Amino acid sequence: MIDSLNLLVMFILILNCVVALNNGLAKTPPMGWMSWGRYRCNTDCDNYPTECISEDLFKAVADEFISGGYADVGYEYIIIDDCWMENERDYLGKLMPDYRRFPSGIENLSEYIHSYGLKFGMYENYGNVTCEGYPGSKYHIATDVQQFAEWKIDYLKLDGCFTLSKELDYGFPEFSKQLNKTGRPIVFSCSWPYYQEHIFNIMPQYELVKKYCNLWRNYHDISSSWQSIKNTINFYGKNHKRMASYAGSGHWNDPDMLMIGNPGLSVSQCRIQMAMWAILAAPLIMSNDLIHISKETKDILLNREIIAVDQDPLGIQGSMFKDIFGDLKIWTRPLIPVINDYNSYAIAFINMHDKVDRKISVNIYSLGLKSPDGYTIMDLFTGDELRNITPNDVLQINVNPMDIVFYKLIIL
Ligand code: GLA
Repeated sequence: MIDSLNLLVMFILILNCVVALNNGLAKTPPMGWMSWGRYRCNTDCDNYPTECISEDLFKAVADEFISGGYADVGYEYIIIDDCWMENERDYLGKLMPDYRRFPSGIENLSEYIHSYGLKFGMYENYGNVTCEGYPGSKYHIATDVQQFAEWKIDYLKLDGCFTLSKELDYGFPEFSKQLNKTGRPIVFSCSWPYYQEHIFNIMPQYELVKKYCNLWRNYHDISSSWQSIKNTINFYGKNHKRMASYAGSGHWNDPDMLMIGNPGLSVSQCRIQMAMWAILAAPLIMSNDLIHISKETKDILLNREIIAVDQDPLGIQGSMFKDIFGDLKIWTRPLIPVINDYNSYAIAFINMHDKVDRKISVNIYSLGLKSPDGYTIMDLFTGDELRNITPNDVLQINVNPMDIVFYKLIIL
């Protein structure tokens, strides 16, 4: 006989299944490409035929994912950001793409991307209009989610422009529930905590965010400038303990897109972004011109060893071990292999100063690396295995101005 307590427990369990985001997705941080960082809201296809937000752009990215080797190393999602829509909904209240720029329709673009075995994502905003003024989802959540599922999307980025804080707390969970209801596996990317913390000055309730979202933006929009990347790294540096505890398989902090390969960043600044995103267990969503990218920056994006750090199955977000003079930052992230309860580690030594090089000697044990049998040091940018060390050894590091030394210490 089922007594009333058991019934209550069953009811709560069922309720939990319905309300929580339980989609089994983003087991490791999602990897892909998104239009915003590079192409913004360029809708002028007459003057910028290869740079405007159009089906041709996303098809070209899909082609390049295959021929350029991006898919081989794990980049998977191709995501249309803002500015894909008509200015109005159709007579049934449905979202419509701008048919001059997406003449074959979204379903065909989705099919094109899927035909390569890649995944397809889109953008909406919970608010009356998107950040760039296109129709938003405020009174249309169920209809829009249904539409996205019919278009067979695999990833939804939901923004929070033009909302009140209470509306966000309703809108994001509601979207998540509706996405779950479609039965289609859709990674859910939320800008919810960004608006809470930076627009409304409210400390995000990350336990709640984690329950409804697979990844979430924590900080301001990134742009193709060193200042922007530096600010982002510093924000995670200041808040690393608070942030890291919410990251894990299925739910990740998102420091925004990889700007690697864009004008405005030097090669060493690109190296720093790639390494830091890997340490942070961040989604690796590029936003760049894949057709004209330089070989040097492309190699950074395709670096399998660094991608493996980012995608490490332990899913532990790294933290800042030390900040010396505000310029030299040491970050560590525990990784597999694990032997006898001792981890391997990724260690980044970043020199944020643009003129002075920095030398440092660090004792391995003090970094938390205590396995008595020691470690092999691998330089993650060259793939070279340098030498073996034990916890008593001291690492002598010299970091060039505005550059990084990035090692993996593989347990022996
Ligand atoms: C916000 C988001 C960006 C981008 C734009 C589009 O600023 O944070 O990532 O999606 O909106 O309008």
